[in-house]
Amino acid sequence: MRSKQRQPATDDLLRLEDVHKVYGRSRNTVTALAGVSLSVQRHTFTAVMGPSGSGKSTFLHCAALLDRPTSGSVVLEGRDLTAMKERSLTKLRRNQIGFVFQSFNLLPALNVVDNVTLPMRLAGSRPNRRLVDDVIERTGPHLPPQTPPG
Ligand SMILES: Nc1ncnc2c1ncn2[C@@H]1O[C@H](COP(=O)(O)OP(=O)(O)OP(=O)(O)O)[C@@H](O)[C@H]1O
Ligand SMILES: [Mg+2]
Repeated sequence: MRSKQRQPATDDLLRLEDVHKVYGRSRNTVTALAGVSLSVQRHTFTAVMGPSGSGKSTFLHCAALLDRPTSGSVVLEGRDLTAMKERSLTKLRRNQIGFVFQSFNLLPALNVVDNVTLPMRLAGSRPNRRLVDDVIERTGPHLPPQTPPG
């Protein structure tokens, strides 16, 4: 008789292991992250705090696959992202990660609906107009005034 051995339960959504990020080259380098390791559990909120220049944005960029660490690894749902090709990273970013940027990063030539649905359309899926309207209805008052309505 055989018994199945269970994998140890892990709720890690994201794990960073000894992540370093060094900007620049030779004598003009800035070490923004010097060996960051942490785990983020599912269904939790994490706040990153620190003085200006301490590496918060750099950390978020590496954790959200917008930039690659100089060394160390970023593991999302058990998958090591540091080894992944750019194309796969793009898909993962588009389908599994949401970003709320400090600046809105909206495309001024597009109206509100087109801005909201652009990532879905790039992913080849057809936006559900009712869902989109609902999202806009709930977030609309917070959109910057220069965004054309529609
Ligand atoms: N593209 C870059 N090229 C060179 N140095 C950079 C670059 N981006 C960030 N840095 C440097 O890395 C360090 C960390 O910067 P980062 O922007 O991650 O800090 P921060 O904690 O987000 O700061 P703030 O609170 O001002 O947004 C700083 O010394 C910064 O000057
Ligand atoms: Mg920042």
